[in-house]
Amino acid sequence: MASPSFPLPLAAILCIYIVLPISAELQRFQHHQKHDGSLIFLVVGDWGRKGQYNQSLIAAQMGKMGDKLDIDFVVSTGDNFYNSGIKDVNDPLFRLSFSNIYTAKSLRKQWYSVLGNHDYRGNALAQISPLLRKIDRRWFCQRTFILNAGVAEFFFIDTTPFISDYFNDPIHHYDWRGLFPRQKYLKNLLKDLEKALMQSTARWKIVVGHHAIRSIGHHGDSPELVKHLVPILKANNVDMYINGHDHCLQHISSRDSPLLYLTSGAGSKAWRGDVKENHSDLVKFFYDGQGFMSVQMNETLTNIAFYNVFGENIHQWRVAKSMLHSSI
Ligand SMILES: *[C@@H]1O[C@H](CO)[C@@H](O)[C@H](O)[C@H]1NC(C)=O
Ligand SMILES: *[C@@H]1O[C@H](CO)[C@@H](O)[C@H](O)[C@H]1NC(C)=O
Ligand SMILES: *[C@@H]1O[C@H](CO)[C@@H](O)[C@H](O)[C@H]1NC(C)=O
Repeated sequence: MASPSFPLPLAAILCIYIVLPISAELQRFQHHQKHDGSLIFLVVGDWGRKGQYNQSLIAAQMGKMGDKLDIDFVVSTGDNFYNSGIKDVNDPLFRLSFSNIYTAKSLRKQWYSVLGNHDYRGNALAQISPLLRKIDRRWFCQRTFILNAGVAEFFFIDTTPFISDYFNDPIHHYDWRGLFPRQKYLKNLLKDLEKALMQSTARWKIVVGHHAIRSIGHHGDSPELVKHLVPILKANNVDMYINGHDHCLQHISSRDSPLLYLTSGAGSKAWRGDVKENHSDLVKFFYDGQGFMSVQMNETLTNIAFYNVFGENIHQWRVAKSMLHSSI
């Protein structure tokens, strides 16, 4: 009696398939810090509205501040194009809401960006396509990636697929191509993030995502991120989690760790006016209007500031890097 057997090539393919890791390692990129070992960048989020809702005013103030501080790059916390991302790589919105708005010389630097929920309502693959860099070479947007910038390492993460509500949204369509099965995607993302954070030897560890972990603004906390991200961030001594989503500026400190929750999602439409009274962590600053954030860091000190539409510094503080903290 002949026993069933796979032809050898098929057996080999099955075998290879099984031993391959399900996800590839997170892609890593490098941005050189200044010669003196410092790093300076601006953060803006929730902006792309063809200049409307004070987007152009904020862009002009970012240009001035970028020049004054001699920034290395810009971080965008997502919701880059309203209302529904971009249609394809030739969508005029890319120029109308990005290239034609952030025209200052100091902003002609790399823009490192994540996708927001509104970006997922359009063609998410187009927004992360390298073809956009042919139109404007400042643009750099990926779902999840690591940026090594010397004194700091950045972990940009794709937070939209964490939020269950979007998968039960009867009104809007989301471009989930490449994300199913969802649970596997999220599990791999968390595993890759945790591994990368554990391996990181950077002085400062910064995680950037669109959705807030902690927020007293309109959307409030994201329970999915509180549950899945916070333990990983705290266990790996992440210094700050930076997000957008709520159209405001916020500085929140966690009660039991040095982790800071910073919202910079005030790049255009703001003044929502519905602030939550209840919150789990220490709210140090909240501003409901348009604005952006600057971060200046070196080996020992980080200086963080928020600015309004007039370019006025409305909140500023310093964080010192204690030698003890990083050696635990
Ligand atoms: C633009 O900014 C000014 C100053 O903060 C504010 O009074 C005005 O309401 C803003 N416009 C919009 C559309 O938010
Ligand atoms: C605020 O939080 C406390 C403690 O979690 C709770 O007892 C209280 O009902 C909350 N109040 C509101 C208005 O949500
Ligand atoms: C970091 O910056 C602060 C403030 O500018 C400065 O006093 C300090 O010497 C710098 N540290 C290093 C290691 O360059």
